[in-house]
Amino acid sequence: MPGAIYAEGLVKTFGDVRALDGVDLDVPEGTVLGLLGPNGAGKTTTVRVLTTLIKPDSGRAVVAGIDVLRHPNEVRRSIGLSGQFAAVDEYLTGRENLQMVGQLYQMRAKAAKVRAGELLDRFHLADAADRPAKTYSGGMRRRLDLAAALVVSPPVMFMDEPTTGLDPRNRQELWDVIKELVAGGTTLLLTTQYLEEADHLAHDICVVDQGRVIARGTSDQLKAQTGGERVEVVVHEPEMITGARDVLARYGIAGIGHGEVSVEEHTRKLTVPVAGGAKLLAEVIRDLDAVGVEIDDIGLRRPTLDDVFISLTGHAAERAEEEEQPPVGAGGRKSRKEAVK
Ligand SMILES: Nc1ncnc2c1ncn2[C@@H]1O[C@H](COP(=O)(O)OP(=O)(O)OP(=O)(O)O)[C@@H](O)[C@H]1O
Ligand SMILES: [Mg+2]
Repeated sequence: MPGAIYAEGLVKTFGDVRALDGVDLDVPEGTVLGLLGPNGAGKTTTVRVLTTLIKPDSGRAVVAGIDVLRHPNEVRRSIGLSGQFAAVDEYLTGRENLQMVGQLYQMRAKAAKVRAGELLDRFHLADAADRPAKTYSGGMRRRLDLAAALVVSPPVMFMDEPTTGLDPRNRQELWDVIKELVAGGTTLLLTTQYLEEADHLAHDICVVDQGRVIARGTSDQLKAQTGGERVEVVVHEPEMITGARDVLARYGIAGIGHGEVSVEEHTRKLTVPVAGGAKLLAEVIRDLDAVGVEIDDIGLRRPTLDDVFISLTGHAAERAEEEEQPPVGAGGRKSRKEAVK
């Protein structure tokens, strides 16, 4: 039985760019899939295909049990979308934006008003509720967009970078909202640049790069694939890097990670995959001392999702604090309208 979100062989090209190059997904009902990938990997394109905003060149997708290509209108009635490019009407107030969404979903005016009030409180927008959205800061707009996606509680939700540009407190609060939604049975596909967010919220993670899924599994499974423990040492002087590298190489285990010492010159940090736990640290410290290497810091580290990401894609996740690109194509308000038709 395919899950609440299912995709098979999705291909989408824009001119010469193969934005999706055969994406397969299967998200069981009531779970969260985290879609991770560097800029341009195809995350937003995947979301736009699954939410019927664009058609793939080939492939198949089923959302909430409905074929996305054959019955897009029915899919739209079963999903919620919070986009990377906020779908907020600038000239309406926050309250009016939310009420409008409710009415587009055929809520009664009174119910839409009540729901708008709840969401404005929940997202700390009550004080600004009656100001036009164009006076909102980036973080406030983002919150309003998320609130708009939650006016009705559809069985399947898509959130494209929901917390980009939010401060830590608002991010944490949104995580709580998401956990409640999922506890209530909602299935969620989420893209994010914050790997700790995926670690925290996602049951399964797909790493995409150049339009393909290059790894999938739980956070723990992906970390285990990347390798086990490492020893990380920061030496006191750049001249000590060579001596430290020789010592650490003796402890490196081949076959896991690269089995070799990696060096970050500008931070004077050396890292090596090891096996042996905390006991090993004492030995390493003694050996470094014996060859006259002074250390500023040493520690045993388990791989993080950041390590997984770097080892899979070759670069660190970008951390855009604000949206940099203007809305493209059917983004912005138009997509919201289409999504609720
Ligand atoms: N409407 C479009 N016209 C032309 N090219 C596009 C269009 N939409 C996406 N692309 C290209 O497709 C590729 C995938 O883009 P997409 O927006 O899906 O990436 P993303 O993973 O969401 O990246 P980001 O992390 O920056 O949001 C990129 O090379 C992008 O330039
Ligand atoms: Mg994107």
